[in-house]
Amino acid sequence: MGERDALHLKNLPRHVAIIMDGNGRWAQGKGLPRTMGHKKGMDSIREIVTISSNYGIKGLTLYAFSTENWRRPREEVDFLMSLPRIYLKKELPQLMRNNVKLYFSGRLHGLPPEIQDILREAASATENNKGLFLNIAINYGGRAEITDAAAKIAQLVREEKLEPGDITEDIVAAHMYTANLGDPDLLIRTGGEARLSNFLLWQAAYAELYFTPVLWPDFGKEEYDRALFAYSSRERRFGQLSRELGD
Ligand code: FPP
Repeated sequence: MGERDALHLKNLPRHVAIIMDGNGRWAQGKGLPRTMGHKKGMDSIREIVTISSNYGIKGLTLYAFSTENWRRPREEVDFLMSLPRIYLKKELPQLMRNNVKLYFSGRLHGLPPEIQDILREAASATENNKGLFLNIAINYGGRAEITDAAAKIAQLVREEKLEPGDITEDIVAAHMYTANLGDPDLLIRTGGEARLSNFLLWQAAYAELYFTPVLWPDFGKEEYDRALFAYSSRERRFGQLSRELGD
């Protein structure tokens, strides 16, 4: 293990979230159809999941399909929708061996029913696993998530289980899809853009942001280590001064 590895392992993020961008450009740069970039992107997922498990990271959230991705050409949407089945068929045994617990977040009811079934089965097959919590955001939008939380809370108020004045940040957080996972400490975006694109808008309030030009299919151990090292070297203050945190 190099000096850099030893250093970053001292201060690992508990929960890492990744916007996996650049699949299309990776493929186009090689004269391939965009869908080949998504296929290659699944290899990066396998590598990053394995490394995260090995490092003892608790949670990994991956942005696989956004509520906006439905606007892509029909063939690309169809291809993206075929990926969960392909991914899970291929990876489930390895995920089980690595004790990974799968979770899917987003407006899952808006997915084709057969995909909902596949996701439900995979989540239930891994539900007793105690290792990495792998949260795959699919048909996910940050604003949709906040809107859904508001609707659920409004329902509780209507049922007189809650007073409007008693709504706290903790109550809002408890109605987010990630209630059981907590906020990401580190949010990585590959592919060169420096924006959140409607990802984890509520949860990323204090996340360290890490942007890299590397395209997702090229993102492997070296790049991941670089991001984890950058995280370990940053001081997180949550709006306070360092001395208030007792550092
Ligand atoms: C962004 O690249 C990537 C996506 C929209 C899809 C990411 C999905 C995967 C890597 C596989 C999904 C896997 C599972 C398990 C469901 P882009 O197409 O926006 O790239 P571009 O910015 O270069 O066009």
